Amino acid sequence: MSAGERMSREGKGMRTPAREEVREFLREIRPEIEELCSRYETRRAALIPLLHRLRRRFGFLPPVVQREAAFVLGIAPGDVSRVVGFYSLFREKPCGRQVIMVCGTLSCALRGANKVIETFKEVLGVDLREPTPDGEFSIERVECLGWCDKAPVVQVNDSDYYDNVKPEDVAGLVERWRKEPHE
Ligand code: FES
Repeated sequence: MSAGERMSREGKGMRTPAREEVREFLREIRPEIEELCSRYETRRAALIPLLHRLRRRFGFLPPVVQREAAFVLGIAPGDVSRVVGFYSLFREKPCGRQVIMVCGTLSCALRGANKVIETFKEVLGVDLREPTPDGEFSIERVECLGWCDKAPVVQVNDSDYYDNVKPEDVAGLVERWRKEPHE
């Protein structure tokens, strides 16, 4: 991650980038984009990896980012917005720097996921998909995280999982994540 990207992550989820900022970033990573496109038969096929790259940089994918991604790949903006709308990891609206995803599918629901979600909302004082005022956290209900025998399961950002999470664990977890934030 470049220094510019690190600085940008400080504000991740807090504001919509200007069009020129998005263009500048795309210019900066142009060789990377071309290398990515060379792996596929069509440029369109590079869309999902490119969106992940943009998500890591800007935190979320507002229409301005989607339009520039479409332009760089030579595809229709509507194709990009359909992909963004389909995958829960792609968000059009601002999110917290740490996104807390609570599985709400059957095994987790039967073992109290709803109460866990309600407790996160109470502790953080926000509703689902609404960043905390300091931009640090947001909460989402997501589909199965593939760890059903350890329900209820919580994921934070891309790769950290917590199993058997109980409502009484929530305040302590939030305190810990404030002190030791997930990347
Ligand atoms: S149902 Fe929650 S991890 Fe599968």
